[in-house]
Amino acid sequence: MHTYSSQGILVTFEGIDGSGKTSAAHALYTYLKGRCPAILTREPGGTEFGKILRTLLQGRTFELDPKAEYLLFAADRTQHMQELVLPALNEGKIVISDRMADSSYAYQGYGRGVTPAMIHAINQWAMQGREPDVTVYVMISYAEARKRLGTRNEQKTVFEREQEEFFERVAQGFEAAFALRSPESIIMRVDGHQEQEQVHTEIIRLIEQYLTQRGLL
Ligand code: TYD
Repeated sequence: MHTYSSQGILVTFEGIDGSGKTSAAHALYTYLKGRCPAILTREPGGTEFGKILRTLLQGRTFELDPKAEYLLFAADRTQHMQELVLPALNEGKIVISDRMADSSYAYQGYGRGVTPAMIHAINQWAMQGREPDVTVYVMISYAEARKRLGTRNEQKTVFEREQEEFFERVAQGFEAAFALRSPESIIMRVDGHQEQEQVHTEIIRLIEQYLTQRGLL
């Protein structure tokens, strides 16, 4: 029987739309769940309140000021941390979140032009100062991501309808967000152009190594 520290591990997945991070987060969760206490969640939409915000943010048909858009993501994040993420971490669980604060820095900050310093400050407040222990960043070119989104049988969200320049800024924003992290917070960059199987295997191997080193597996 393993003993788990009272402080869990926060693993976030980041990447542009169509990067494959959602299926990678699921694959990691499926691998971990029989081995250690783990939960899978997402932003926006990890809580009941968040689900309402997710529908509003992704499917809206009206213009929204970028600051207002950011504050809705921040409201979702605040509730998500308080209601779900921090309690699970306090129980020593591994929390896997499909997107978190870096997405706001990248999409609303670099993508939409909201002052990044403001986003950083509010993100820290919403996160109650907790950084991810690990961020898995699935890196992919805009062209490949677009191809994948094109084959999905779903209505495109307001974000997915954005053009190449937007996603170039978003990718820069992710790097800028990672540069602000403290040295203990690890960024694992994974090449999203590989076969899906390979991407999943690589991520599972990296996280397995990390958790083993920390005595959690
Ligand atoms: P995601 O769950 O990856 O989309 P889907 O499951 O539909 O593929 O992310 C939802 C969208 O919200 C995505 O386009 C990025 C955007 N987003 C932001 O713009 N800012 C944020 O802070 C977050 C968390 C997401």
